[in-house]
Amino acid sequence: MARILAIETSCDETAVAIVAEGKLLSNQVASQIDIHARFGGVVPEIASRQHLLTLNPLIRKALASCQLGWPDIDALAVTNGPGLVGALLVGVSTAKALAWALNKPLLAVNHMAGHIYANMLAGPVEFPLVCLVVSGGHTELIYMERDMEFTTLGQTRDDAAGEAFDKIARFMGLPYPGGPVLDKLAYQGSPVLEFPRTMLEEGSLDFSFSGLKTAVMNHVHNCRQKDLPLNTADIAASFQRAVVDVLVEKTAMAIERTKPASLLMAGGVAANSHLRRGMKELAQEKGLSFRVPPPALCTDNAAMIGAAAWPLYKAGRKAPSSLNALPNLGLS
Ligand code: KG4
Ligand code: ZN
Repeated sequence: MARILAIETSCDETAVAIVAEGKLLSNQVASQIDIHARFGGVVPEIASRQHLLTLNPLIRKALASCQLGWPDIDALAVTNGPGLVGALLVGVSTAKALAWALNKPLLAVNHMAGHIYANMLAGPVEFPLVCLVVSGGHTELIYMERDMEFTTLGQTRDDAAGEAFDKIARFMGLPYPGGPVLDKLAYQGSPVLEFPRTMLEEGSLDFSFSGLKTAVMNHVHNCRQKDLPLNTADIAASFQRAVVDVLVEKTAMAIERTKPASLLMAGGVAANSHLRRGMKELAQEKGLSFRVPPPALCTDNAAMIGAAAWPLYKAGRKAPSSLNALPNLGLS
């Protein structure tokens, strides 16, 4: 049974997991959210330093949690992009050093592939598939004909979905990260405010959320200027409805175009309860099987990196010892 120790340090979670042939044995996440919250967003330099402090103890904790030692580990996997370069480098350097010292293969995993493969921890999926990947830095519609083969059907031209959640929450004085806060708040309000749903040119599978973000900010600004009460719950519900409408509509278009066998969703925003419901309904309507990871595996973790490393390991796709962090690494 091949066991992979996986490391993820691309943003503000230090994470280590042990995955045995696609099955999760240990999943350790040390979140830095509390440290960055007072700045209203991730401070890259602080993130790197925090990864340095946290990573080695977390690796020991992961091994201890399943009573394993280094002889039981067959390969090291690490996220080498996309992400914050300093943060990525901590994970990449650590994985390289371990692979060299232990003489075990090193596997380089794309963070976005990791998000998608979080879905594979629940068992094999049906190909071809369409996956909506929505995170703090990315909004992409991905088509996969087979394992580890990614075609980008559409992506955001400006803000990512999660970024829009975070920026709007921050503008309203709500805590970071804004996504989970707005998700909860929306239950106390109604989607009564008319915010735009940007669909771009006819047939485009790209996204744009900056117009929506500006419309929400203008509304907040107007209320403040006129000294009107700010109904944050209605704003949250209306903003979220607009985001979900666009994401579901574009995913429906991608399904029509590619006729997949299954529909997947991944990334931090996939933890959003309203979006999960909308996508599940879409899959039912189209007669497709639907997969989304449990919320804890939607946000950044290393289990997903171990899951994406498994097909690389099987195919013998080892990374060279010269592996570098690539902040803008693409998927297709
Ligand atoms: O995938 P992720 O953990 O990190 C990146 O790779 O970017 O995604 C983080 C993003 C943040 O923007 C956060 O606000 C958003 O995911 N998020 C949510 C929810 N939980 C996390 N957005 C909407 N609703 C949620 N429940
Ligand atoms: Zn992520």
